[in-house]
Amino acid sequence: MTASNVTASNVKPVLIIGGSGVVGRRAVKALRDLHPELPVRIGARDMTKAAALAKDIGHAEAVRVDLERDDLGLAPDAAFSAVVVLLKDDSLRSMKYAQDHRLPYVSFSDFAFDIGPAVGRYIQRPKDSAVLLLGNFLGGTAALSALHFAREFKKVHAIYLSGIFDEEDVGGPAASGDMVRLQKSVPSPLILEDGKFIWASSEEDATRTFQGVDGTSWKGHAYPLLDVATLAASTGASTVRLDMAVRSASQRAPGKGPGHELIIEIEGELPDGTTARVRHALVDGDVHSGLSGRGVALAVERLLGLRGGAPVAPGLYSPEGLLDPAYVVERLRHWGTVVGRA
Ligand SMILES: NC(=O)c1ccc[n+]([C@@H]2O[C@H](COP(=O)([O-])OP(=O)(O)OC[C@H]3O[C@@H](n4cnc5c(N)ncnc54)[C@H](OP(=O)(O)O)[C@@H]3O)[C@@H](O)[C@H]2O)c1
Repeated sequence: MTASNVTASNVKPVLIIGGSGVVGRRAVKALRDLHPELPVRIGARDMTKAAALAKDIGHAEAVRVDLERDDLGLAPDAAFSAVVVLLKDDSLRSMKYAQDHRLPYVSFSDFAFDIGPAVGRYIQRPKDSAVLLLGNFLGGTAALSALHFAREFKKVHAIYLSGIFDEEDVGGPAASGDMVRLQKSVPSPLILEDGKFIWASSEEDATRTFQGVDGTSWKGHAYPLLDVATLAASTGASTVRLDMAVRSASQRAPGKGPGHELIIEIEGELPDGTTARVRHALVDGDVHSGLSGRGVALAVERLLGLRGGAPVAPGLYSPEGLLDPAYVVERLRHWGTVVGRA
């Protein structure tokens, strides 16, 4: 199919495994908002929960998924346009299924140290599927916003991303399982400092103090997310890091529920040859899964060729290589995220 004949109503359903979870239901609702006609299949184990969501969003059905089976427990004649997996599939059977059916595949739960098996599987069959590694912070929206703001620079030297989570914002059981996995297996975060990638083992390297939008000072801790690697590659910056702090309920502004705040600081050379450091912020009234789910929806829209060009050809992709940063920021604003200089 070319860009001209792909429409939301003539593509096969998108299979979103984990589509009924904390991120998943936000992702399917954002996708429904973008494309009211797009058929969606919500893959899960609890059919009652998935079917209720399917009914709520329309043009959707719940499908039972069994990640212990090579056919994922799906009917032999099941046909999809993409496979999106919003949980850690340790077996990668879902990726093999996508490759066997030559479908785009989105992985969402891989830390920077986690991508080896998926990259290995991609390398064996590079012509079968467009594989998007979307383990990036906030479903790629953080990196894409940073790329958007980096455009005012002739040369980018450093990017500092800082996330502020509310203490209640822990995601669902799958997300908690991933944090346990992170703490047990590879506790050191990845940072790029002065051109060198470091798995920061000392407390000094792994922490950074930053200021929130209201001027509050936070001590953030770095995380091994893919953004460090992909933003380094896409901007040429020699320092990139991503640190997160947790805000207690008592530190929130009165009357406010849990939300999410992202500060993006960029240092570099402006077109006039001077150097500058700029600060931008994304402030969102939902838990971090809100921005993450919207990132998933924008990625699916692009992969299918529903916007921004023809359906994406087989290859290995990061969000920066796939999506238009200006469009992503515009959509986030449209969905209610406050984006601006901080
Ligand atoms: N890249 C990012 O920006 C980003 C951001 C946030 C979270 N994450 C990751 O996204 C994932 C989901 O987080 P969440 O907070 O949405 O977790 P969650 O609420 O527990 O959602 C998990 C979903 O997966 C389904 N599921 C779980 N195990 C399954 C299995 N074996 N087979 C089929 N379906 C299964 C669950 O439905 P059933 O119970 O019905 O099976 C549910 O719909 C986590 O891995 C988290 O680390 C990534």
